[in-house]
Amino acid sequence: MKATSASSAASAPSSKSDSQVALELKDIHKAFGEKIVHEGVSFQLKKGEILSLFGGSGTGKSVVLRSIIGLEKPDSGEILFEGKDLTKLTEREMVSFRTKIAYVFQGGALFDSLTVEENLSYPLKEHTRLKPAEIRKKVDEMLELIDMKDSNDLLPDALSGGMQKRAGLARAIILEPAVILFDEPTAGLDPVNTHRLLDNIKRLKEKGITGIFVTHDIPAAFEISDRIAILVKGKIHVIDTVENIKASQDPLVQSFVSGAMNNS
Ligand SMILES: Nc1ncnc2c1ncn2[C@@H]1O[C@H](COP(=O)(O)OP(=O)(O)OP(=O)(O)O)[C@@H](O)[C@H]1O
Ligand SMILES: [Mg+2]
Repeated sequence: MKATSASSAASAPSSKSDSQVALELKDIHKAFGEKIVHEGVSFQLKKGEILSLFGGSGTGKSVVLRSIIGLEKPDSGEILFEGKDLTKLTEREMVSFRTKIAYVFQGGALFDSLTVEENLSYPLKEHTRLKPAEIRKKVDEMLELIDMKDSNDLLPDALSGGMQKRAGLARAIILEPAVILFDEPTAGLDPVNTHRLLDNIKRLKEKGITGIFVTHDIPAAFEISDRIAILVKGKIHVIDTVENIKASQDPLVQSFVSGAMNNS
């Protein structure tokens, strides 16, 4: 039997099977009082991909990330991760998931009174049974990865803004989470430090990390993402590969790509 090329193209699966999905949001609704933020946000994050989330200021990108880690509770909808609906978990159940989903927010969020090494060791001491020598080794590996070799004994105050962010990134991911959520990690960085942080994220990508990258920095997102999602009026307006987003004829998508909607 002959298969036409059209039919084989049409039969290409548009949604991946569950085993390839790391995280799925289904019809999330969220309002703060009168202010409706999410009106049915749905998307899948595939294993091994970086998905960038664009949207104008105040469209609810951070609330998406905060909902995933349980800092906000959607009014309705599901957030599926490892067979569980995260929106239904109790605070106590959520604690174990916090080690599997890392949240890298603006600023390094390091403990001021702890050295870089102590900051990075902290999650390992809290959540693993690794021996001190193993912890030390892991911290050193991580510092090498973020170009901060030999910064072990420095206090956060002694670090540049870029180094603080990279150290914050390292601490967030040292437990090797299944999913990493980045909320504008390059905001406030000069071009050199932005580049270094992106390089670090690219290196992590080579190691197979899965993550959502919220940013107003469109070129940065294009550089590190597999797919892009754009949040407009409480819904995912479009979600597609970087290539297709760049080529899109949709005026709204074009305005993002050209930077016209790149407001912060
Ligand atoms: N805890 C809260 N209480 C009340 N309103 C909130 C709360 N958190 C967020 N909002 C509102 O929800 C909307 C979406 O906020 P969010 O921070 O997700 O926007 P954003 O897309 O991340 O914007 P930006 O790009 O400026 O960071 C905003 O109008 C914000 O004021
Ligand atoms: Mg935000």
